[in-house]
Amino acid sequence: MTDKKAHLTVDGIDDPVELAIYPGTLGPDVVDVGPLTKQGLFTYDPGFVSTAACESKITFIDGANGVLLHGGYPIEELAEHSNHLEVCYLLLNGELPNQQELESFIEEIDANRSVDDSIAKLIASFARDAHPMSMLCSATAALAAQYHDNLDISEEQQRYNSAVNIIAKMPTLAAMCYRHSKGLAPIAPDTRLRYAENFLYMMSGEHVSETLARAMNRVFLLHADHEQNASTSTVRLAGSSGTNPYAAIAAGVATLWGPSHGGANEAVLNMLNEIGDESRIDEFVARAKDKDDPFRLMGFGHRVYKNFDPRSRVMKKCCDEVFSELGLEEDPLLKVAIRLEKIALEDDYFISKKLYPNVDFYSGILLKALGIPVELFTVIFATGRTPGWIAHWHEMLSEPYKIGRPRQLYTGSTKRSFVAMADR
Ligand code: ACO
Repeated sequence: MTDKKAHLTVDGIDDPVELAIYPGTLGPDVVDVGPLTKQGLFTYDPGFVSTAACESKITFIDGANGVLLHGGYPIEELAEHSNHLEVCYLLLNGELPNQQELESFIEEIDANRSVDDSIAKLIASFARDAHPMSMLCSATAALAAQYHDNLDISEEQQRYNSAVNIIAKMPTLAAMCYRHSKGLAPIAPDTRLRYAENFLYMMSGEHVSETLARAMNRVFLLHADHEQNASTSTVRLAGSSGTNPYAAIAAGVATLWGPSHGGANEAVLNMLNEIGDESRIDEFVARAKDKDDPFRLMGFGHRVYKNFDPRSRVMKKCCDEVFSELGLEEDPLLKVAIRLEKIALEDDYFISKKLYPNVDFYSGILLKALGIPVELFTVIFATGRTPGWIAHWHEMLSEPYKIGRPRQLYTGSTKRSFVAMADR
């Protein structure tokens, strides 16, 4: 696989340890640290900032240059010319579908959109003020109780069927969670409507314009995958134990729930509400720049994208279309957002630290404009990210794999004898 080697000199070991270096088709080479265990050494990388935990063909990110590719196709081109279900097919199969392949994929999705009444009962058993992510996490795991016939994960066709089933059902579950929290009865999917349009219909019971349907489709598409982020890595890790796909996806939903991951667009809206008025923006920008103040401008900066987030450009365009159609240019909250974006883009502090508006900044204000309540934002993110999660799970199981089992640097007590209660 490779002729390139690294040689690591370690104090106390006579000869340098030879480590193979594998090239990717794009991106940094990786060093195979496996031989170090034979020398009694582990590698140490908290937060996995420099560890490639798997090999994957699905998505490539070049954060320095603002590049995001699915199956080699730039996200901007997919957003412009494709749609969410076509991207789902691409993530699962590695190639764009031809017309006939796309039609039969859509047919399969349409045939699987409904959920069993027992799932509706499960969601109905939650308190109305339960967070919708709590309902979604439970409902996703509960699907495993319904589809015993496709749970043999060693069978490729069964894995594929489960993937289609879960992509089809996620918007239905998401809309049911929302309606339950509002005290409303669920609305059954309408297969005459396209995927994203149908989601908005199942939420509100209303049919939306082409612009709003396109915006919802783009929100799903732009969130579809982002290589080995925390929730996707969790799905892989959970799946590596051989658990069923619904349980693995529920683990992904749980991970996404955290404010450092899926909760950021919710944080953007909360911040905009806190700022409240254009006259207070300078005060908040000053706080964000103050080293002694922990406040940060939510929706600015990204761990991976250090020049721009390619998804945010598409999302911004989408925002402009939706605001103009809905006549929201004068909405006070959106005015705060637009003014804040302008100030931050021109301010030396943000320019020098490469802090640009990220996808969550625009998705937060776009979802708000679409009339989606803040507490549902992470549920929408989970619905959009499901194809990525399940594609990574499917990819992992399609090749030989090992159970994920990280090691540790132990810093606790050395061995000691048990101390009786009276002597402590
Ligand atoms: N507002 C003000 N200052 C900021 C911000 C911000 N949003 N983000 C980073 N900085 C400053 C830091 O204070 C730090 O300054 P210093 O060099 O003087 O110490 C410098 O920029 C670098 O910041 P780090 O935290 O080291 O950058 P990192 O890459 O680790 O963090 C992160 C990225 C977590 C996204 C950060 O920019 C942030 O907290 N942003 C706001 C929250 C947010 O929008 N999160 C969503 C991310 S997108 C996603 O998850 C899909």
